[in-house]
Amino acid sequence: MTWLVLVLIFGLLALIPGSFCRGLNEEFTWTRISYAASIRLAESYIYENNIPMSANRWRNKLFVTVPRRRPGIPSTLNFIWTNTSQKHNVPLISYPNFAINQLPTGDSDGFVSIYRTAVDPCNRLWMVDTGTLEYPGNVNRLQQPAVVIIDLLTDQIIRRYELRPLDITNRTSLATMVVDVTPATCNSAYAYMPDLSGFGVVVYSFQENRSWRVSHNYFSPDAQAKDFTIGNVNFQLNDGIFSLSLSDVKPDGHRNAYFHSLAGTHTYSVSTHILKNRRLATRMDHGNDFMVEVNRGQQTQASASDLHRTSGILFLGLVNQNALACWNSFTPATPDNFDIIYKDDQKFQYPCDVKISGDDVIVITNAMPVFLFGKLNYNEINFRIWIRNVYEAIRDTKCAMRPF
Ligand SMILES: *[C@@H]1O[C@H](CO)[C@@H](O)[C@H](O)[C@H]1NC(C)=O
Ligand SMILES: *[C@@H]1O[C@H](CO)[C@@H](O)[C@H](O)[C@H]1NC(C)=O
Ligand SMILES: *[C@@H]1O[C@H](CO)[C@@H](O)[C@H](O)[C@H]1NC(C)=O
Repeated sequence: MTWLVLVLIFGLLALIPGSFCRGLNEEFTWTRISYAASIRLAESYIYENNIPMSANRWRNKLFVTVPRRRPGIPSTLNFIWTNTSQKHNVPLISYPNFAINQLPTGDSDGFVSIYRTAVDPCNRLWMVDTGTLEYPGNVNRLQQPAVVIIDLLTDQIIRRYELRPLDITNRTSLATMVVDVTPATCNSAYAYMPDLSGFGVVVYSFQENRSWRVSHNYFSPDAQAKDFTIGNVNFQLNDGIFSLSLSDVKPDGHRNAYFHSLAGTHTYSVSTHILKNRRLATRMDHGNDFMVEVNRGQQTQASASDLHRTSGILFLGLVNQNALACWNSFTPATPDNFDIIYKDDQKFQYPCDVKISGDDVIVITNAMPVFLFGKLNYNEINFRIWIRNVYEAIRDTKCAMRPF
């Protein structure tokens, strides 16, 4: 009898909207990053310096990058299996193999340093190898930054394209990338690469095997948005355009590209019609090509973002709030239409990659500013990968108000 009552009560609770929580699930956690045994033994490994920067999924592989911003990083592009029961301190496995991830010597084409990856619907993994060792006080460009594309079905590198000297500046930092392609048009793919410290966007056309650089004032930081506080650490950043997210293809055959600076609170947009066309993209006077969508308001500085194309929902990592935010891009871009999905001042420090994979949103938090400007405790959990179904994550937020 008691059981029946309990079952009834829980059954009723389940029917009340809001009894399922919005937000994210902690899926993988690390106190410190380690590598599969064969890798760790092969090269010097300084665990304190291995900070995972990105998470992206293809089938059962979850790709995790570790850019070389300090010595002692054995492998920059890695993955873990998602189909295991082990969820804590899972060792990283080099991808596509360990040899190519070893720090290159001489003029070999090994990977130097990779920040984030893009998975496209044609089973390809895209990234920029910055070619640069960013050791403090000893920044060393070993190679020209290059677009690298790997066929995920064969694990083969199918293209390595070195950016032209004109595409980059001596301050260039290419830390994110988004690929504009549909499953029916794999060959006419474009990659857009925000240059967060050179304040530009580099475009690469897969079909033309050619690249160009786009300049605009909106790629710069906002003067009033450079102060940050994370985990009791105060610091300034001067990072411009950090992330660019694509809408679904619109009736005119192009997409909206929404973008923002890390040290900024504005969301801007431009049609991919402009970015894809070398002449339009590089013209001196851009007229009304670029638009201010909204000033989201104080403390809304955002790092990575991605857009779930079916629902139109844009997800943004809010670094100053230790939070994940959303905006339904089918609603007007007003500050009111942005909402917080998840916030945790301890567990959610520095959401540094946000990816949509199918109907899931994937976020990695890595407490990077505490590493840079404070001190991490490597006996506590520092790195987390969060995953949740998009529609569950936004439950009861303003982003869910529109029926899907
Ligand atoms: C995970 O999936 C991969 C390929 O899909 C498979 O080779 C591997 O055996 C699976 N691992 C487990 C523990 O099921
Ligand atoms: C970078 O380039 C600018 C001009 O393009 C130059 O003024 C500056 O000195 C250069 N900085 C470095 C560190 O080379
Ligand atoms: C792409 O262009 C580069 C030169 O910029 C060249 O080295 C490379 O072979 C080209 N790749 C393809 C597939 O055409």
